[in-house]
Amino acid sequence: MRKKIVAGNWKMNLSLQEGVALANDLKAALAAETPNCDVVICTPFIHLATLAAVTEGTVIGLGAENCADKEKGAYTGEVSASQVKSTGAQYVILGHSERRAYYHETAEILKAKLHLALDNGLKVIFCIGEVLEEREAGKQNEVVARQLADSLFDLTAEQLKNVVLAYEPVWAIGTGKTATAEQAEDMHAFIRGVMAGRFGEPAAEELSILYGGSCKPSNAKEIFSKPDVDGGLIGGASLKCADFKGIIDAWK
Ligand code: 13P
Repeated sequence: MRKKIVAGNWKMNLSLQEGVALANDLKAALAAETPNCDVVICTPFIHLATLAAVTEGTVIGLGAENCADKEKGAYTGEVSASQVKSTGAQYVILGHSERRAYYHETAEILKAKLHLALDNGLKVIFCIGEVLEEREAGKQNEVVARQLADSLFDLTAEQLKNVVLAYEPVWAIGTGKTATAEQAEDMHAFIRGVMAGRFGEPAAEELSILYGGSCKPSNAKEIFSKPDVDGGLIGGASLKCADFKGIIDAWK
């Protein structure tokens, strides 16, 4: 049985103090009622070391939202995979569409980041997804297959065990316009097929594929009910404890 996961992506939100308060609220909520899925929060770098202490010994996993494509050295302002790992974090999000679009992260850059993250013992939540024009042109499968091939196909099956995929249609991110459960399932099944073609059926069956894009307590249950949807990567709704808990509860 592959892992069910609900992961939050805080993006560039919350002061250190606000982040600690949110993590403590979540910790209390999940201590009161053990979740039926893995729970991860991915936060700005500035929160990581403090939140590693807050989440230690709890069910909450912790991750960064990015890491550098270089190992170490004179790269002012960058944070390396090994530095992320040294905070106590276990995950890193890579390939988010905001990083691809606003910071020009190419497939080559993402491949370098992916290998550094895995080499440093981090689990990677790797994002893929098409923009609106690509979906309107019926090219979503082609686009996503290329994103998978360009950044992931040179991994070994062993490395793939530390990768979780997140399908995030760019037109659904922060727009309030969620993909329908059928659209999500169609794409997730397609992604699993592409990964099976490269890594074999058993490896693809073990791979968790999360949906991301305007996921909320009111639509999570329907989306997560689909056979190839293994959870969600949650932006806006992960910033409020009750909403994030509501999405976690979709696995009840
Ligand atoms: P929203 O849930 O705010 O649409 O963001 C999704 C996302 O980008 C998660 O990585």
